[in-house]
Amino acid sequence: MGGTIAGLAADPEGNPNKYKAGQVGIDSLLAHIASALPQNIAVISEQLANMNSRNLSESLLTDLGNRIQECLNDLLVKGIVITHGTDTMEETGLFLQATCGHRAQILGKRIVITGAMLPANAPAADGPRNLVDAISWASMPLENCPNGVYAVMSGKVCLAMDLAKRHGSALNAPLRDSPTSPVNLINPSWLSCVKAVQAAWGEDLPIPKAEEWPWVEILTSHAGARARTIKHWLTSEVLGLVLAGTGAGGFHDDWSEPLDEAIDRGIALVRTSRTGSGATYPHIPEKDAHGCMASGTLSAPRARIALQLALNAAETLKISGKALTWQDFFARIANLPEFR
Ligand code: SIN
Repeated sequence: MGGTIAGLAADPEGNPNKYKAGQVGIDSLLAHIASALPQNIAVISEQLANMNSRNLSESLLTDLGNRIQECLNDLLVKGIVITHGTDTMEETGLFLQATCGHRAQILGKRIVITGAMLPANAPAADGPRNLVDAISWASMPLENCPNGVYAVMSGKVCLAMDLAKRHGSALNAPLRDSPTSPVNLINPSWLSCVKAVQAAWGEDLPIPKAEEWPWVEILTSHAGARARTIKHWLTSEVLGLVLAGTGAGGFHDDWSEPLDEAIDRGIALVRTSRTGSGATYPHIPEKDAHGCMASGTLSAPRARIALQLALNAAETLKISGKALTWQDFFARIANLPEFR
């Protein structure tokens, strides 16, 4: 998919932040690490995109999800590694878990997402090691560790849905605050949480068609938040709003009235926290408006993808006779067991 792992700095010895993401093809990245790869596997590569992931589009997520599902169904494919920019890995990780996680488990395969914080030609580039670790993790399942959707970076592994970039430049930025285990020495308490999450994820949600992703925006509550901000969206075609609230997911009192109007107009509302960690529970700090959902441990970018998938599932599966609401589908993702 591109990202910094495929990036090039104009001056490799100079400032490592001055580079262009998505410049080197996946074949070249693989050729560079060929001698470090496990010997008993064949690695076949495919360039779906080569971009800076800040430009990730919903239609590209659709292409990625569909291609991953084809690969999962291919009897010759043992595991799948995705190279990706770290900026929006958080969205892609949640998307893959929610749309391909169950299938990966039942077919006994791993999907592994990886990237880098330094461009490919930096002297201390982290991408090569991350790619070797990711391919090893995808192809050599450790005994007793379930299959599913993971992220591997900086010598650590986590569930892809727990991956979050929480620093602008630190080398361990993507997994800095995520529940992880060292890739070579699986931590038993991490493993039991992974198993609990995998056991609870019993059915994948449908992948939205490229041009049919529901329009959902993230709005952040802050000092001086205005009712006008919400009212602005009431006249749009937006189908859902993710409220990145203060603290445990509270929002400015001035938003209450227009948000009630949003619900009356059928706009889906989800509350999360702008703090970047911790959980948002129902009815805290006060009673939720009818139908508004708390997002559990989902951050705002993840809650947005979850809400889009939930709205799409409610619409798509309605036609096939399963009358579940977007809240039913959203709760499946938001209520997965938490790592403590
Ligand atoms: C990107 O997300 O494509 C650029 C940043 C990165 O990969 O670290």
